[in-house]
Amino acid sequence: MKCVVCKGPAIIDIRRHNANFCTDHFLEQCRRQVAKAIDEFAMIERGERALVAVSGGKDSLAVWDLLVELGYDVDGLYVGLGIGEYSDVSGTYARDFARSRELTLLEVDLPGTYGYDIPTGSRAARRAPCSACGLSKRHLFDAAALEGGYDVLVTGHNLDDEAAVLMGNTLHWHTEYLGRQLPVLPARDGFPRKVKPLVRLGERETAAYCVVRGIDYLVDECPMAAGNRHLSYKAALNDIELASPGAKHAFYFGFLDRAAERFATEAEADREDLRPCASCGAPTTSEVCAFCRLVQRAGGSLPDGGPTAVAVELGPTRARVDEPSALEGVR
Ligand code: AMP
Ligand code: FES
Ligand code: ZN
Ligand code: ZN
Repeated sequence: MKCVVCKGPAIIDIRRHNANFCTDHFLEQCRRQVAKAIDEFAMIERGERALVAVSGGKDSLAVWDLLVELGYDVDGLYVGLGIGEYSDVSGTYARDFARSRELTLLEVDLPGTYGYDIPTGSRAARRAPCSACGLSKRHLFDAAALEGGYDVLVTGHNLDDEAAVLMGNTLHWHTEYLGRQLPVLPARDGFPRKVKPLVRLGERETAAYCVVRGIDYLVDECPMAAGNRHLSYKAALNDIELASPGAKHAFYFGFLDRAAERFATEAEADREDLRPCASCGAPTTSEVCAFCRLVQRAGGSLPDGGPTAVAVELGPTRARVDEPSALEGVR
């Protein structure tokens, strides 16, 4: 297997580009794809301050590293969700990365600050864990970006994530979500601008990027997400991609080019009556925002005010760079 650029030994094949790359040209390819996404969708201007939400997983650490490499001014934000050992370990990866690169990492601790963690809080509020978690994260990301005076909030969503969400939204014809499923959401009504610079990279590439760059990351998926629909859409798309390389890219970018605009009216209607939450001031369509309602129902659900011990089984937690098999498990 030879690199398409220099004919040296290749370390990865990317079937949707019909190309193999050596280490250096693979890194260059990742940087080029991120730079292209940033330019194409006007994500970040030179001189702007960006805040990247980092979970300790491959995507968010890769996007942080890539943005720094491309010369952007980026700090990190880690939210401790109190999901047992999973959260403890994920925080360690985020902190270790920041320390090794001398980057600034902001931290918000959900149980310590709001009195609930995701497992107990979602039960107390009778919400699915991933829904309570998504709601809490979105609120805390927005608040941290605005309070810190950042111009833009970055997340590590990649092509696989976006194609899977698109599949879910299409299967259920969530037209108001389809109108908002864009790689850039402009700042408005008290929300910061939000961008996804990894939309041109698949998760196999972000994992390989971390391995090649020597970035240690938490390999395990969140234990609360096991069996959720999002993962089954990813698996279905992986089967389609195997038979038809490039299908995920065509699905997602075809949607952006030819369909997203058609759902803009529904998405807009959903945001028409936004006003400040009576409790925290965040934009909402109700009197009190969904996050404050969650805090009212779930806050104080911890037995002694401390994080609950959740039995979370973790497998091997890191893909080591010196393990030859490290790239193989990566899909
Ligand atoms: P997920 O919702 O877990 O698929 O994560 C999507 C993106 O949200 C990640 O790529 C990160 O940018 C961000 N993220 C997820 N979990 C956290 C966390 N605990 N702290 C900060 N950012 C996070
Ligand atoms: Fe939020 Fe798993 S990371 S429920
Ligand atoms: Zn090469
Ligand atoms: Zn509120």
